Amino acid sequence: MNDTLAYALEQDEQDKLKAFRGQFHFPTTADGKPAIYFCGNSLGLQPKGAQACVQRVLDAWKTYAVGGYMKGEAPWMTYAQRFKEPLGKLVGGRPDEIGVMNSLTVNLHLLLASFYRPTKTRYKILLEAGAFPSDQYVAQTQVLHHGFKPEDALIEVAPRANEQCIREEDIVAKIAQAGDTLALVLIGGVSYYTGQYFDLENITTKAHEAGALCGFDLAHAVGNVPMQLHDWNIDFAVWCCYKYLNGGPGAAGAIYVHERFSLDKSTPRLAGWSGSDLKTRFDMPHDFTPEPGADGWALSIAPGLILGGLEASLDLFAQAGLDRLRAKSIRLTGYLEYLLGLLPKDALEVITPRSENARGAQLSVFFPTGGQSLQAYLAEAGIITDYREPGVIRLTPTPLYNTFEDCYHVYQTLHKRLKSG
Ligand SMILES: Cc1ncc(COP(=O)(O)O)c(C=O)c1O
Repeated sequence: MNDTLAYALEQDEQDKLKAFRGQFHFPTTADGKPAIYFCGNSLGLQPKGAQACVQRVLDAWKTYAVGGYMKGEAPWMTYAQRFKEPLGKLVGGRPDEIGVMNSLTVNLHLLLASFYRPTKTRYKILLEAGAFPSDQYVAQTQVLHHGFKPEDALIEVAPRANEQCIREEDIVAKIAQAGDTLALVLIGGVSYYTGQYFDLENITTKAHEAGALCGFDLAHAVGNVPMQLHDWNIDFAVWCCYKYLNGGPGAAGAIYVHERFSLDKSTPRLAGWSGSDLKTRFDMPHDFTPEPGADGWALSIAPGLILGGLEASLDLFAQAGLDRLRAKSIRLTGYLEYLLGLLPKDALEVITPRSENARGAQLSVFFPTGGQSLQAYLAEAGIITDYREPGVIRLTPTPLYNTFEDCYHVYQTLHKRLKSG
């Protein structure tokens, strides 16, 4: 590895996935050039095929009106079904265990209605300190809803003093300590802030040993890191599809529910007509019988127009293959890490874990001073990143559309700015 443009270009030339970049629309800079986009952890780029998929839904609506539920290339009645298999491949879940519906936070509340069923003695929820605010609010309001106090019912595991990431041994220790008071472990699979990828299987095993259930918010994990949710015996998970999955703003969310619960009709849940058994749905029965599988948590009719945005991207994932994307992601992120390591040591600190197994495509870089103005400087140079207090710029080289050259330019721009003070 070296810090020359020639090296970066050579890596791009050898990249077997390089053609996928051409399948995306890039925002442009003031001088009309494509921006360097390092924000796929926040909102993925628009695949060029997305417009046709959304247009197809509009056309079917125009042509068939209500008939569009049953007619056309992708009848809306079953449109959401086509995403189950590709999403299942990305997270290691069986198609039956995957459902596409609502949005992440709504789904998390719905699944907690099923999987957070506290008793007087077993009522605590363990989560990581600094979890994404939605997860914290879900946990806080769920315990309140059940008549408990957040300060008693929530256990937060924080990084140790002068550390940024949470040690897994500390999560495990807190699970054991909570013992039979623990109802649920709820963790962000990849931390939105530090980019830390937790050992989902180990945490789940430990939660089960304590007699608790275990679920994950996979917003920053899906399409980013490989997972085997079914084989790891994970109880449930939720994610959004607008980050690495490029499904567009407000894209439909998705859930995974292990088949031991999703195929069991007696699993308690909040219900709507769209989650009722398809075999009898149109008999309009008085009582609810769930559709077998994760679809049994759907409340409402699937959002056809919104789903259109996701279809093109999942086709690209299927063509590229998550294994190949992950292999490129490890090299790309490793290269960016190497380049950042050449910058003045006192100017920045990469707070994302150094081990490739404990992170995905994101490097969170802490700048003790001037982080926000540095992000603005990068933006002026045509490099789109995001900033989170205090002082963290998240840099996300996503393997579907970022290049080694992109990493090189980020490095050069930071180098120029830090040198000039
Ligand atoms: C980790 C994480 N969880 C939850 C959410 C909230 O998702 P939504 O607002 O789509 O429900 C986000 C949004 O960025 C997130 O990053």
